[in-house]
Amino acid sequence: MSEKKRRFAVLTGGGDCPGLNAVISAVVKTFLRNNCEVYGVYNGFNGLVNENLVPMNYSSVSGILPRGGTILGTTNRDNPFKFAVEENGKLVYYDMREKVVENLKKYDIEALVVIGGDGSLHIGSQLALECGVKVVGVPKTIDNDLPCTERTFGFDTAMAMATEAVDRLHTTAESHHRVMALEVMGRYAGWIALHSGIAGGADVILLPEIPYHIDSIIAKINERRNSGKNFSIIVVAEGAKPEGGEMSVARIIEGSFESVRLGGIGEKLVREIEDKTGVESRCTILGYLQRGGSPTSFDRVLSTRYGVAAAEACLRGEFNVMVSLFHDHIVTVYIQRAASEPRLVPVDSEIIRAARQIGICFGD
Ligand code: F6P
Repeated sequence: MSEKKRRFAVLTGGGDCPGLNAVISAVVKTFLRNNCEVYGVYNGFNGLVNENLVPMNYSSVSGILPRGGTILGTTNRDNPFKFAVEENGKLVYYDMREKVVENLKKYDIEALVVIGGDGSLHIGSQLALECGVKVVGVPKTIDNDLPCTERTFGFDTAMAMATEAVDRLHTTAESHHRVMALEVMGRYAGWIALHSGIAGGADVILLPEIPYHIDSIIAKINERRNSGKNFSIIVVAEGAKPEGGEMSVARIIEGSFESVRLGGIGEKLVREIEDKTGVESRCTILGYLQRGGSPTSFDRVLSTRYGVAAAEACLRGEFNVMVSLFHDHIVTVYIQRAASEPRLVPVDSEIIRAARQIGICFGD
């Protein structure tokens, strides 16, 4: 009689991110090569509530390593603890945790690999603590703002995309003697703005962690004009805010992991600069180009290492952890710790000091 194989499942949750498919590929291959079975869950936790999962084999993951997006689909809605269903044009919330546990039992799934950001890892952690589900998390987000890891996969690709945008804005800003602002993502953390701003040689970088004064930015623009540089480049994080002011909210959202969608600060900023200086100013919002498309080689390697490490943690029976990068080694940390407060840019860090040394203005 053939021995019963151990069976695991993998899902992707929250906003998509370059490298998701590389993680899926590594998870699936590691399980298969270790004589286990693996199911792919479609559309994050929705697939566990609605029983939307399929067995995966080598051909399911063939050729997906360099592809953007996720072959499993994702959503930043559908929290099983607060599952939104539209009834008579209104959202009604149900607790579907038992359904998740029931479906995992039904499919005989020993443990679940959750590839997600803070929202999905928080749900994974709750499933582990409150329902006894065995979970291993993989830190995903272009924002690089998860605690307990030095890097999330996807960040390198977003940073490369934003850096290319800064390079392209330089030539048009210089030709037209304009101020050009590039609004980048990152939620409440300024990692994408900071790294792409330094890499692209921005003159001003505005981060959520350092509230800005418009007068400091204008002083920088004037200083450049007085030295013969008739253009300036600003990289502004979507979560940046003026001293004493609020972050710019594009939209309040219901039923999502996030209660607000940030956006709009770049446009406000260039209007204010133009009004106060008379210098023609424009804003570009980079938006979802940061999330789409093929991962960089760095993200492909990191995603592969994370995927293998997550499957290996399952194989050795180490659950309720997240795989994490620490001093260039992949380690595991308790998932509860990983699903806590976001990791912000430390304002007194060496990288901020380096940027200041070369004359970058943070608006403070
Ligand atoms: O967390 C990743 C991210 O891209 C943020 O940088 C951005 O604020 C948010 O997701 C946008 O999410 P959505 O997919 O809901 O528009």
